[in-house]
Amino acid sequence: MSGRKTFYTTTPIYYVNDVPHIGHAYATLACDVMARFKRLDGFDVHFLTGTDEHGQKVEKAAAAAGMSPQSFTDKVSQSFRDLLGVMNYSPDNFIRTTEKRHYASCQALWEKLVASGDIYLGKYAGWYSVRDEAFYAEDETTVGPDGKRRAGPVNNEVEWVEEPSYFFKLSAWGDRLLEFYEKNPRFIAPESRRNEIISFVKGGLQDLSVSRTSFSWGVPVPGDPKHIMYVWLDALTNYITECGYPDESNPLWRFWPADVHVVGKDIIRFHCVYWPAFLMSAGLAPPKRVFASGWWTTEGQKISKSLGNAIDPVAVTKEFGVDPVRYFLLREVPFGNDGDFQRRALIGRLNADLANAYGNLCQRVLSIVAKNCGSVVPPKGVLTDDDNALLGRAQGLLAAVRAEIDEQAFHRALTAIWEVIADANRYVDAQAPWALAKTDPARRDTVMWVLAETIRRVTLLVQPFMPESASKILEQLAVPQEARTYAAFDQELAPGTALPKPQGVFPRYVEPAKAAS
Ligand code: ME8
Ligand code: MG
Repeated sequence: MSGRKTFYTTTPIYYVNDVPHIGHAYATLACDVMARFKRLDGFDVHFLTGTDEHGQKVEKAAAAAGMSPQSFTDKVSQSFRDLLGVMNYSPDNFIRTTEKRHYASCQALWEKLVASGDIYLGKYAGWYSVRDEAFYAEDETTVGPDGKRRAGPVNNEVEWVEEPSYFFKLSAWGDRLLEFYEKNPRFIAPESRRNEIISFVKGGLQDLSVSRTSFSWGVPVPGDPKHIMYVWLDALTNYITECGYPDESNPLWRFWPADVHVVGKDIIRFHCVYWPAFLMSAGLAPPKRVFASGWWTTEGQKISKSLGNAIDPVAVTKEFGVDPVRYFLLREVPFGNDGDFQRRALIGRLNADLANAYGNLCQRVLSIVAKNCGSVVPPKGVLTDDDNALLGRAQGLLAAVRAEIDEQAFHRALTAIWEVIADANRYVDAQAPWALAKTDPARRDTVMWVLAETIRRVTLLVQPFMPESASKILEQLAVPQEARTYAAFDQELAPGTALPKPQGVFPRYVEPAKAAS
């Protein structure tokens, strides 16, 4: 491990009150692409996901299912674990907040906050949203025409809560947080979220209730077990539990501070205000970056249980394939914006970008090589300006994609890759290798080498996005496993290498015929 740069990325840990849908698959996908890219780029990577299992919302869901919280969370947590296989995600670990090591970590952090003088006992009287597991000030709530009071990013109902509670002195952290945001301009992305957080903090912070006494499904407060820790203090701590906290000699401690926490836009206040304040109070470094992703609707509607319109990752990947769904989610919508999941748009992308542009390029090139070049990497002759232009664009992709990945601009990374694919298709048409077969077979071979080499470079960069398809294409180019990292990006295809029989990787999607009525 020594000397390699570390990269630690995390997903939100998912509440186990519900089964996973495409919105839950989304943040994990972004982390998976970053983790895969960084591994290929030589980093020492740790990628964490998991489930958030305490709190009133989960306790209620367990009661509604007629189960104990522990057996309920065991069951639903497993469905989030299963999602990893369905979407071909590659986390290094899956954390559950009901693990023993996590209790120890939360309690150690609590004791640090106490030692810093930031915790005091009081009484909470105010509004609480169980669905958001969040406290709201009265002026953040509104009463609707139905007489119900609501608050928060998705306007969930709030209820009045009055109970003894420990508080964290968040009010004392405003200036230090603003200074931290100022010194670390990359801490919150996208920019609009950064502005939202800065103005929230500038508006003045109130002390935060960090324990509850009216129910018991949570981590006990050290020395006062009538109190359980506020579920968000518990949940956020997962990111350092994983690294071994409080044991800083744990080998995984090298990953802290995290490089990127990917979170939904609804939970940035917790990650960008509370979390750095807790960490600084405990004398720990805040994460380097929090990226807030947008929300998916389906066919124009909010995903909701009552509408029953949640896109099920199992069903959608079964119908369209895992890689096309991964591609669509990251290509269709700039990461950070809201998006609408439309079946028609997915089919359009699958057919245009995957089957026609990329699939067809591979198919055309590899079948000519198989039929006319003796199924080996063709000899590379003298390169023309056109050849060098295409090869140069393919070579430039690594730096371009790396820069976009570091900004979580996945759609721009994919756009850059697909521009080279379009260039390569234009080059095939312009060079017309089928016509060269009779007039100048040596030139035909060079054209085919340039194309095969371009496909190799493009496909090395497609790997993090569509690992399985990219692997199939690299196999057809006989690129060995150890030559698939970015250290080998400039290791050109060697003429004469035997190639296996080509086969299509991205079939066109054809709507199944409607049953005759
Ligand atoms: O918030 N589109 O868990 P959660 C995109 N346990 N993203 C969506 C979405 C949609 N339609 N619906 C939900 C929690 N999400 C906490 C996190 S982290 C220390 C604790 C996203 O299961 C949502 O934005 O309610 C959030 O980031 C994630 O799913 C988990 O939501
Ligand atoms: Mg939620």
